[in-house]
Amino acid sequence: MNHGMRKNGDKNGRGGLLSWVGKTKNLIYVLLSVVLVAVLARVQLPRGQRDARSPEAADICREVTLTARGQGGRQELSAWNVSRYCEDITIDGACEELKDFTGLTDDEFQKRMERRGRFHFEGEHMFWNPGSKTELAWYYSSSVDYLFGNVVHRVNTGVLDRFLKHETHEPVLDYSGGTGNNAIYLAKKGLRVQYFGIGMAEKAFARYRVERNGLQDLVEFKEPYTRRTGYTFDPINGPLPQDGSLGSILATDVLEHIPNYHKVVEKMVDSIRVGGVIIEHSPFGSEQESSDQGEPDVRIHVSTGGISMEEAMGPRMKKLNSGSYMNVWVKMMSK
Ligand SMILES: *[C@@H]1O[C@H](CO)[C@@H](O)[C@H](O)[C@H]1NC(C)=O
Repeated sequence: MNHGMRKNGDKNGRGGLLSWVGKTKNLIYVLLSVVLVAVLARVQLPRGQRDARSPEAADICREVTLTARGQGGRQELSAWNVSRYCEDITIDGACEELKDFTGLTDDEFQKRMERRGRFHFEGEHMFWNPGSKTELAWYYSSSVDYLFGNVVHRVNTGVLDRFLKHETHEPVLDYSGGTGNNAIYLAKKGLRVQYFGIGMAEKAFARYRVERNGLQDLVEFKEPYTRRTGYTFDPINGPLPQDGSLGSILATDVLEHIPNYHKVVEKMVDSIRVGGVIIEHSPFGSEQESSDQGEPDVRIHVSTGGISMEEAMGPRMKKLNSGSYMNVWVKMMSK
């Protein structure tokens, strides 16, 4: 009886398996047909209506950026220019360091450096489409594409060498220091520097570079949240001490990203000592492109909002004629 049962069971089992294989075959045919129909259907679909998960969706997203309000640039970099920028002596091997930091292959790294298609930081901006000042700040905090955009941000060594002197101008706060190019250049010259930036990926990379180059003793990292700000994200009061204790502040290509930038400038002036300098380069969007009529201005390069840099700096600051691309302001008196 046991034997019979086992035999019966085997038979059922084998029969079950055979019919399962048969069903599976049919299932495979059905699946193949479905895939074929899907592929054919997809080819018929207009570009904009394709599956959002298709690789092209990200490129469509970028095409939208071509018509987006007020975003300058947008160009990809040619391979020739990427290598030219990466070989710039003022950034001293930063691209190699970034490649090591990311662990990406040559091709994966290259397409990001060339800002190809979906890898352009302006496409990333469009994708998140920040709708308020706080979302804009969160975009800058969480951006990964800015790593590759900012790593080739050359250092204006002529101006820094001329205006930043040991002791008189230390510590130098690099406000929104990107991948750390300025901070690392200055620390390599032996100056005490403070790095501040809200980009989490950029800051992690800047820390990596500081350690890799053995500059920990010269570079201090400032955070957008401190005990003083109640550990709330505050990119103004976090890094700016407002007590005249800083020797100088660098703000290269940052103020034009900040709506109501003059509020930051005022706190910067409060933060440096008399005789200290603020070195800035701020290519604002044109007044015509901008919208400052009550709505948050959330394009990449915002406008001045009608307030000139001279007004923003106020009577305590005097503009030195640096005769260069960057503006140098010196603090003449305290409040
Ligand atoms: C490299 O960049 C410059 C601008 O810096 C541009 O004028 C030039 O056409 C670019 N060259 C190539 C080969 O892309």
